[in-house]
Amino acid sequence: MQKIHFKAPGCWINDPNGFIWYKGEYHLFYQCFPYSAQWGRMHWGHAVSRDLVHWEEKGIALFPSKTDDRSGCFSGSAVEYDNKMYIFYTGVNYTEENPENINTCLNDNFISAQLMITSEDGMKFDNISDKKTVIPPIEDKNTGDKTHTRDPKVWRGKNAWYMVLGSTDNKNGRLLFYRSEDLCSWEYVSFTEKDNFGWMWECPDYFEADGTGITVFSPMGFTDDGKEYDSNAVCVFSSFDEEKGEMKLYDTYQYLDLGLDLYAPQSTTDKDGNRVIIAWARMPESVKSENGEWCGLMSIPRIAEVKNGHIYFRPHTNIKNAFTKKISSPEKSGYMLKTVLENGESINIGGYLIKRDNDKIITDRSAVFNVKGNYRLTAETPVINDGYDLEIYVDENIIEVFINNGEYVISNVVYGLTDRISGKAYDLYAAE
Ligand code: FRU
Repeated sequence: MQKIHFKAPGCWINDPNGFIWYKGEYHLFYQCFPYSAQWGRMHWGHAVSRDLVHWEEKGIALFPSKTDDRSGCFSGSAVEYDNKMYIFYTGVNYTEENPENINTCLNDNFISAQLMITSEDGMKFDNISDKKTVIPPIEDKNTGDKTHTRDPKVWRGKNAWYMVLGSTDNKNGRLLFYRSEDLCSWEYVSFTEKDNFGWMWECPDYFEADGTGITVFSPMGFTDDGKEYDSNAVCVFSSFDEEKGEMKLYDTYQYLDLGLDLYAPQSTTDKDGNRVIIAWARMPESVKSENGEWCGLMSIPRIAEVKNGHIYFRPHTNIKNAFTKKISSPEKSGYMLKTVLENGESINIGGYLIKRDNDKIITDRSAVFNVKGNYRLTAETPVINDGYDLEIYVDENIIEVFINNGEYVISNVVYGLTDRISGKAYDLYAAE
């Protein structure tokens, strides 16, 4: 059982969606195929939490009901306006269904529209009566692609609402920007793109942290070392001119996480106004448990902060505060480990090796990742100039290594961790 991380409630999950603090609770929706542990016709699952540590499952919130979302409710976001929750997402309509699995399509033959659904309390969603479509499939090729345009992220600017969508010109990924006065009618304003930065940009998100603009997205076909995965989440330094509705993307970027397992992150502001971000941890194999087969996990919610031109991703304060009970031996899962490594030193956590070599932190999951396919087994930080404090969150199927309180993070999915820890001395903590 994963204790720290939100996991699929016995089926398939992928991207976090509609992440929001609303009426005294955090709502986390997620891409979900509720019938089996594989990707298929997407629904939105729903969970709530008061503290980002303990989650309560609420079941399915969004399901296909209109022609525009008949083949799936893809990713999107939520905002609060006039006490109501407004959810924006991509509706998908397969124009060539796979006859052997109608939950998937053939030859990428589908069209995408942008849809909206509202709720008075964030709990009840009327999939039938709500009109849903707000932006029909794109017809103009110069703007975007009618198939690959998706994942609306909406935010409130100074004088209007803005929406960013991920899209492509079929060679380069791009972002499309829309503006609205009332959240219901949307006007296209501009696009921005970048050469040689992946062919399609999924799940865009824009926010400012400590006065710096950051655009997060997941370019497809970006990391070409021949390994799984070639699509990875990046955070690009940027600025958004609201008057012109134009985004400028600078050349500087960071990976969201150096483990390259996390994908499609989404951010929101927490109860105290911090920028909190959560991502899907991709699992190449499902897990069979007493309660059924499941596949897909969420990362720990992290607070994003910018200092000296670098983005830090720290475990959310509520998570840190939860893990304060000192324990003497590891629990089967769901514990936190603290240690500091000198050059040449290492620690082995249940088969997952972490070492410091030439002032880099290097991880190796070879012994706990017996999975078919050409996956990355090792990850490393750049040379770190100062401090090697490790705060490591260990769950049954994921380990997250926070280095120097989020200066770098390496997260990896694992299978078959043992409860043996060896190497460098450490302190262990369980949740209160
Ligand atoms: C990213 C993604 C999104 C899409 C969703 C479908 O993982 O491909 O672009 O909306 O997943 O499940």
